[in-house]
Amino acid sequence: MKKIWICGGSGMLGSHFKRLLTNRKIPFIANDRKQVDITELENVSKFIKAQKITHVINCAAYTQVDKAEIEQKQAYLVNAIGPHNLAIAARRNGARVIHFSTDYVFDGCGRSPYTEDSLCAPKGAYGMSKLAGEMKLFDELEESCVIRTSWLFGLPGKNFVETMLRLMSEKEELRIVSDQVGRPTYCQDLAETTLELLEHNGIFHFANSLETSWYHFAKEIHKQAKELGFQLKVQKIEPITTAEYPTPAQRPAYSTLNTKKVEDLLGKSPRAWTNSLQEYLKKYKVYQETNQIE
Ligand SMILES: NC(=O)c1ccc[n+]([C@@H]2O[C@H](COP(=O)([O-])OP(=O)(O)OC[C@H]3O[C@@H](n4cnc5c(N)ncnc54)[C@H](OP(=O)(O)O)[C@@H]3O)[C@@H](O)[C@H]2O)c1
Repeated sequence: MKKIWICGGSGMLGSHFKRLLTNRKIPFIANDRKQVDITELENVSKFIKAQKITHVINCAAYTQVDKAEIEQKQAYLVNAIGPHNLAIAARRNGARVIHFSTDYVFDGCGRSPYTEDSLCAPKGAYGMSKLAGEMKLFDELEESCVIRTSWLFGLPGKNFVETMLRLMSEKEELRIVSDQVGRPTYCQDLAETTLELLEHNGIFHFANSLETSWYHFAKEIHKQAKELGFQLKVQKIEPITTAEYPTPAQRPAYSTLNTKKVEDLLGKSPRAWTNSLQEYLKKYKVYQETNQIE
């Protein structure tokens, strides 16, 4: 009998899993750092054993890309030692680990979508810690599943769409980076696909279909939000270069993930991000008005 543990259950992706597993009536337990800290091996191991966990879905992570440049040790502890601990504890107790990684393991100098076999060369501390996590997990438990994803948006959670909606309601003019390209991903689509990959081993890329830039992503958010009746103040959205918007962490200029491996395995393509965005915005509006997530 399957019993899933969602660690990092209060995060953005973790919240989607909680709703999805509840709706599908799949037995699970979700918690956050206060209950079980994934950096503490013995506690993790005791928990997996006591709860008779069969599958660990690791949504716990240090995700502050810029802050990770200063807090490198903490990022490494959560993103590398954390999954290593989960792997050790899972091995001791006969459980599986499903873990998430990122497009930021690539340097972004490529010009065609990155496959699971493409060379990893992270540019910043966050990407390095996530790559170390992938490697430590497989070193300890070869039969594990790592899903690399990109540009996540979900509910509730701090993400680009939410930030844009706030800024668009506060400011008349926005300047958005147009020379970073990738594939936005809705947490709901990622969570549903993950459930189909539970018993598969290896690295998989998953992102919504169609690549875009942050600038074009913002323009689409604006268009759809206006159509859905969001109160927006913004009049002008202008493209700028990465050089005009310096951040502590360098980000890959091109981080489009190739998702063919998952598409061939599951026999279907991911939804276009524009369609997923529409679903997200509708739910976000209800959430704003009622504080309820459908
Ligand atoms: N967000 C993106 O755009 C993006 C893109 C590509 C890949 N990913 C990957 O996707 C996964 C999910 O990301 P997300 O955006 O849902 O992250 P998130 O919203 O930041 O959630 C991460 C969760 O992990 C918890 N956590 C942190 N340290 C922990 C520890 N030591 N023990 C237990 N829990 C801990 C956090 O709790 P606290 O709030 O208490 O710290 C938080 O609830 C991550 O692996 C991330 O690297 C994300």
